[in-house]
Amino acid sequence: MNHYFTNNENLKSEIRVLKYSYGEYNFIFNSDLGVFAKDKIDEGSKLLVETYFKYGKKDVKVLDAGCGYGFVGITLSKVMNVKVDFIDINNRALHLTKMNLKNNKVSGQVFLSNIYDNVNEKYDVIIVNPPIRAGKKVYMKFIEDAFNYLEVDGELWIVMRTNHGVKNIYKNLKITKKSEILSKNKGFYVILTKMS
Ligand SMILES: C[S@@+](CC[C@H](N)C(=O)[O-])C[C@H]1O[C@@H](n2cnc3c(N)ncnc32)[C@H](O)[C@@H]1O
Repeated sequence: MNHYFTNNENLKSEIRVLKYSYGEYNFIFNSDLGVFAKDKIDEGSKLLVETYFKYGKKDVKVLDAGCGYGFVGITLSKVMNVKVDFIDINNRALHLTKMNLKNNKVSGQVFLSNIYDNVNEKYDVIIVNPPIRAGKKVYMKFIEDAFNYLEVDGELWIVMRTNHGVKNIYKNLKITKKSEILSKNKGFYVILTKMS
């Protein structure tokens, strides 16, 4: 079975073009079979970036964790002037991210990583729409291990659905770190957790 997080070299390609606008900014994304949100930009991802546009830091170093075709990092890069690195386990997603960086005249490092295995730097911000379908072990690792890759004043930005247990995750994050729900829409929550 093909999932959006598996690599399947034999999967045919059917590129589609998705558009997104925010204020004066117009973006164009190539998508394909075998990647997350292939036909339509995900509502949760849109809520995540639009919340970041309102409350997020400009001019910082960001890791787009589980980047898919690069929607989150590319829009942030343009609107907030941040420097973004992109990671994913899916080679096709990484290839699309590279195409989309060019399409939108944005630069950034793109590399393969199983969760944070190949990440060797620290970031001011890690932003993630976790891969629910990859299972709890994987998506919880995306959240819990993020703190090892954040600067002392770093921030973790998460979007998740209520029916995927976001309320519990928020409750647990709040026990040890300053956390807040910044926005809610259509069953999605955006949580900001601060290192200090
Ligand atoms: C919910 S999607 C979000 C994609 C993109 N950020 C967006 O908002 O459109 C989660 C992404 O995590 C990736 N992923 C799944 N398991 C992974 C793993 N073990 N390591 C790295 N990335 C993984 C998937 O390939 C997918 O692109």
